[in-house]
Amino acid sequence: MLPYYIDMSSALILGIETSCDETAAAVVRSGEELLSSVVASQFTAHQPYGGVVPELAAREHLRAIAPVVRKALADAFSDFKSLDAIAVTQGPGLAGALLVGISYAKALAFALDKPLIAVNHLEGHIHAVLLEERQRGNHELRFPLLALVVSGGHTHLYLASQRETSWTYENIGRTRDDAAGEAFDKVAKLLALGYPGGPMIEKLAGHGDASAVKFAGVQLKGTPRNVSKKQPAREADARTFDFSYSGIKTAVLRYVEIHGMQEEIQRRKEALAMIAKPSLEDVLKVCSEATLDLVASFQKAMVEDLASKTMDAIRETNASTLFVTGGVAANSELRREFEEVAGMEGVAVSFPSRRMSTDNAAMIAAAAYPKFLSRDFASQEFSAEASLQLR
Ligand code: KG4
Ligand code: ZN
Repeated sequence: MLPYYIDMSSALILGIETSCDETAAAVVRSGEELLSSVVASQFTAHQPYGGVVPELAAREHLRAIAPVVRKALADAFSDFKSLDAIAVTQGPGLAGALLVGISYAKALAFALDKPLIAVNHLEGHIHAVLLEERQRGNHELRFPLLALVVSGGHTHLYLASQRETSWTYENIGRTRDDAAGEAFDKVAKLLALGYPGGPMIEKLAGHGDASAVKFAGVQLKGTPRNVSKKQPAREADARTFDFSYSGIKTAVLRYVEIHGMQEEIQRRKEALAMIAKPSLEDVLKVCSEATLDLVASFQKAMVEDLASKTMDAIRETNASTLFVTGGVAANSELRREFEEVAGMEGVAVSFPSRRMSTDNAAMIAAAAYPKFLSRDFASQEFSAEASLQLR
């Protein structure tokens, strides 16, 4: 039960995020004032494996969670007692990793007798944009609002609605196979460019010719206008803006084979294995022009496909506002392309700042604020949901 003296208009919320490979905690006041945001990356633990290892992720979260939360409170000049609520990511994500944050948040809420709020990670990514818009003093939102969440696990389009303090979401498009970030990561792995792939591909792409390799549209399957008759009508109607990125990864692999690039990849793998955290210069030294062109062309194809399918959705839904968020939204070329095409449609596009694009806990604390206002609190019994849907 909420103590009667809580001032609902000024809520200090501690957010906790452990859905994947970042242990994060943040303190946000009333969904708009960022007081602290701490993110502990597990990069060095997973790097030798070229991707996130779920068991390792859970173990690393266990090690990091208490110091990360303590630092978030210290950075905010705050303490446990002054918090009004504890918010935590419920899903989607890795079950073992999610459970670390959830167990910690439950224990904290119980010990402090504070309300507990369960947040969907994808809603967090959307609220990262809202938090920063409010910080800039922009409280006016024009609806319909379309949000593209483009991360390592998701490429989802949502039509978002707000009624009083509550937000609801309709999923109108999603990837049918690989997420966009997953494609960046898999292509980076196959070219031995390190993990996570997105940031390094972005840096290398600036040194290549993006028009050198043409990826046929067929590899990025088109938007299915005639949805299968086997699909239930409602589901088919609701999701007509799907993406698909497993084809382009296969196309990159085929290109590598046809152009005999395997030896170079092997040499690069061995050279970079000797360096703890390879810099752009380290990687550039072991990349041929052909590799740089391939990487730049891949990034261009991804970005153009994401933007053109999102614009299809904009036109069909008459959306006035577009949010592009999630780890891949940190990509500068993606931002440039979206700004250009959204500008042509007369639609306002907003991105989170780069550090708020990738996983963090400020977005979780911000997304919790509307739930705090509507007293949408979680019980001590709630658990992790690895495939939690956003509605
Ligand atoms: O949102 P996020 O931090 O975690 C998930 O919820 O998945 O997104 C991580 C993903 C990874 O696939 C990573 O390669 C990609 O975002 N990413 C990027 C960039 N920075 C991160 N992709 C393209 N360009 C970037 N600059
Ligand atoms: Zn994420």
